[in-house]
Amino acid sequence: MSGNVPVLLFGAAIFVVAFLIWWLIFETEGVYLGRRVMVALYDLYAARYDRIKQFDETADITLISQPLLDRIAPLDNPLILDVATGTARVPLIMARNARFRGRVIGLDASRRMLEKAREKVVAGRFESFITLLREDASELPFKDDSFDVVTCLEALEFMPRPQEALAEMIRVLRPGGLLLTSIRIDTRWMPGRAWSEFRLRAELEALGMRDIDVMIWQEDYSQVWALKTGRSRPIRADGLGHAMQSARQVPIS
Ligand SMILES: C[S@@+](CC[C@H](N)C(=O)[O-])C[C@H]1O[C@@H](n2cnc3c(N)ncnc32)[C@H](O)[C@@H]1O
Repeated sequence: MSGNVPVLLFGAAIFVVAFLIWWLIFETEGVYLGRRVMVALYDLYAARYDRIKQFDETADITLISQPLLDRIAPLDNPLILDVATGTARVPLIMARNARFRGRVIGLDASRRMLEKAREKVVAGRFESFITLLREDASELPFKDDSFDVVTCLEALEFMPRPQEALAEMIRVLRPGGLLLTSIRIDTRWMPGRAWSEFRLRAELEALGMRDIDVMIWQEDYSQVWALKTGRSRPIRADGLGHAMQSARQVPIS
C-alpha cells in the first residue's frame, strides 16, 4: 500500500493541475489571467464561438429584440450600443427584426470576434444597421448621454473592471434610456467576479438607474432591464456622428 502513495499523490497533483487549467482557460475564459490573456483567448475561440454557443435566434428575437422594442415603443429608430458584442449576436437580431429602423454599434475588445461579426453583417447585408468598433468597455469613446439603449449580454463577469464598464455604459446612456444586461445565475465558479443579483441591483442604483427588472432568461443567465433616471429627447439612429467622441481605433466596418 505504502508503495502506491507516491503514485496516488502524483495522480492527485495531475488532476489538480488539469482542473486548474480547465477552470482558468475554459470555465472562466481567462478572466483571472488578465485582460490580455482574456482577449487572446477570445481571439483564439472566435472561429468556434457560434458553434460552441449554439444561440437559438428565434428565442433571441422573442426574448431580446421584441421586448426591447416593446420597452422603447413608439421609438423604432433608436441608437443602440451593444458592449462586448462578440460575434454581433445583439446587432444581428435587432437588424433582422422587421420593426427595427435604428442603428446598433457593436463594440468589443477582440479583433477576431469582430471579424466574425463583420462576416455575418456583410453576408446579411446589414451594413446600414450595424457599425462595429474595437474598443475597451472600461473607456467608451462616446460623449455622455449619447444612446437610447445600451446592451451588454453575458459579458460583465468577464471584464477586468466591471464596475468601470457599467459606469461607462450608464454615462453614455441618455436620461430615460434603457439598459439591458445579464447576470450569471450560478456565481460559485467565478468567485470575486460574477456578481449576485443583490450586488448588481446595488451597483445599478448607485449609478442612478431605476425600475430595475430581473427576468428569467436562460439556464445560466437572467436578464436585467433598467432605466436611467431623468428624461430627455430620443437620440435616434442619425445621432451616431454626434455620439462619437474620438476615433482612436479604426472601425471594423
Ligand atoms: C461571452 S462573450 C459574449 C458576447 C455577446 N455579448 C453574446 O452574447 O454572444 C464576452 C465578450 O466580451 C468581450 N469583452 C470582455 N471584456 C471586454 C472589455 N473590457 N471590453 C470590450 N469587450 C470585452 C470579449 O471579447 C467577448 O467577445
